[in-house]
Amino acid sequence: MDQESTQRVHALVVRINHWINALAILIMVVSGWRIYNASPLFGFTFPSDWTLGGWLAGAIQWHFAAMWLLVLNGLVYLGYGILSGHFRRKLLPFSPVAALRDVGTALRGKLAHEDLAVYNAAQRAAYLGVIALAVVLVLSGLVIWKPVQFHALGQLMGDYEGARYVHFFAMASVVMFVIVHVAMVALVPRTLVSMFTGRAPRPASAKGA
Ligand code: HEM
Repeated sequence: MDQESTQRVHALVVRINHWINALAILIMVVSGWRIYNASPLFGFTFPSDWTLGGWLAGAIQWHFAAMWLLVLNGLVYLGYGILSGHFRRKLLPFSPVAALRDVGTALRGKLAHEDLAVYNAAQRAAYLGVIALAVVLVLSGLVIWKPVQFHALGQLMGDYEGARYVHFFAMASVVMFVIVHVAMVALVPRTLVSMFTGRAPRPASAKGA
């Protein structure tokens, strides 16, 4: 396909950030489940086969290693998103009413996603939400890691014990996001191609413009 009939939909930095983030989140979640199993908050544990690290100390090492990847990569993404105008162009303005309407349309199987350069309101809500969740995960993780040094932050979350619950529910919400996100990508597979190549067909309505 030539340059004329395609358009750039994802900047290289966003694509690199996205895939590093997906890997880091995967490692964080499955090593986190092993850490959880050593001291469960609820009456269940995660199946060992779904966890990473082999034992508590091994899982903590994976968790901390991927934590640096997640945080450094996340800072580049946030910095780029704010300074380049990427967030303003692609995720804003955000309207909760439009997001609910788009979710309803999507559930009826009628949400068009012809122009991959533009996120619909449901996508904007999901992406802004998961970015906020990642920030909550990192902040609550800091409180669990260093409760004394991050005492003031901990007080906002009910101290060490509260931070564990905040961390758990933020993780569960991110996992829910990923399940829905990957299901949506499976429904519109050309979005996956564009997250690698950065380009997608120009919509018919924009051709010749
Ligand atoms: C294997 C897993 C994943 C796949 C296949 C995948 C695929 C995609 C695709 C295809 C898009 C572009 C959607 C479009 O153009 O309509 C996208 C965007 C996005 N994904 Fe994922 N994703 C995965 C994991 C994740 C994870 C784990 C997160 C965060 C926890 C995430 C967060 C995002 C965000 C925030 C965007 C918007 C990026 C931007 O434009 O700034 N994804 N993903």
